[in-house]
Amino acid sequence: MSQTTTAIRFSNFGGPEVLLPVEVPLAAPGNTEIQIRQTAIGFNYIDVYHRKGVFGPKLPLPATPGVEGVGEVTAVGTEVSGFAIGDRVAYVGGPPGGYARHRNLPAARALLVPDDLDSTIVAASLFKGLTAEYLTHRCVNLQPGDTVLLHAAAGGVGALASQWLKALDVTVIGTVGTDEKAQRARAQGCAHAIVYTRDDFRDEVKRITGSKGVKVVYDSVGADTFERSLDCLQPRGTMVSFGESSGPVAPLQIGTLGAKGSLYLTRPSIAHYTADRGEFEAAAERLFTAIRDGVLTVEMPHAYPLTDAAKAHADAESRKTMGALVLVP
Ligand SMILES: NC(=O)c1ccc[n+]([C@@H]2O[C@H](COP(=O)([O-])OP(=O)(O)OC[C@H]3O[C@@H](n4cnc5c(N)ncnc54)[C@H](OP(=O)(O)O)[C@@H]3O)[C@@H](O)[C@H]2O)c1
Repeated sequence: MSQTTTAIRFSNFGGPEVLLPVEVPLAAPGNTEIQIRQTAIGFNYIDVYHRKGVFGPKLPLPATPGVEGVGEVTAVGTEVSGFAIGDRVAYVGGPPGGYARHRNLPAARALLVPDDLDSTIVAASLFKGLTAEYLTHRCVNLQPGDTVLLHAAAGGVGALASQWLKALDVTVIGTVGTDEKAQRARAQGCAHAIVYTRDDFRDEVKRITGSKGVKVVYDSVGADTFERSLDCLQPRGTMVSFGESSGPVAPLQIGTLGAKGSLYLTRPSIAHYTADRGEFEAAAERLFTAIRDGVLTVEMPHAYPLTDAAKAHADAESRKTMGALVLVP
């Protein structure tokens, strides 16, 4: 008898309303895949880009978004080792398709979840935490005493990155959309929180650093902030442009980096920092240890039923949310 499962699909690129629950066939896993019954699915901003068709190659339609989840292994491909039926696993990356009750995924993108970690906490923190891990530990060389600017500091990645940076003795200047978010950003490790919807963050950074500027800017907001972020850097500082929540960054004249102080620019992706299995496992271990040791506090995420995925997207895009969101099948 052929099996089916519930998934969220979109047949056109567009607003949250294109996300619709449907019953879809569930094939057996391929030779190098595992099949899982998901218990929690992480929402990530990249899911919005996929739905809009604005980031990288557009997904072939109809498509199911989702690049993170936790669940129980229900079937294992013939060439898979290291996973067995009944194992609790989490995954990041691989082909999108996470917004579903069951799914197949490459075993190479899955990790066993340590027994002492809660599934919902892992779904809320694996993708964002691995992003925070590479941004704070591997993408730039930070030293205790450095000062950085972190945009969207009360968001999913922002909450974890600010805690981790503080633990590294880095002074974090966070930007946030509201006073309520500013309060949260301060509680999560930001020494300063700028409400950039009201105050010019360039002026504020200048004031806070005594015109020195910061060593690194972590900019996931993109279009609205990129240009002014460059002005916040000290000479030879590094611009880490890792997202585009407000829209894609306009083309840049390379000479601008010279004129603004011999700046470095990187546009990193978690995909390249976790492609190697050894690096992926080491990064996850560092994340799990940080959660266990209390270096990172992961708050219970706001949970939406899987069938309300459109509402989760609408809330995230309207900047109402703080911290992480998960979908529950
Ligand atoms: N390159 C990578 O490896 C990688 C990996 C993971 C995530 N990311 C990027 O990191 C960013 C954060 O991801 P997340 O999942 O944790 O999301 P999030 O930070 O929880 O949500 C995005 C936040 O961006 C801010 N924002 C500013 N202008 C916005 C606009 N016009 N529309 C919507 N939001 C706006 C909002 O915070 P305020 O209201 O406080 O401004 C909003 O809460 C995203 O840009 C994502 O693409 C990159």
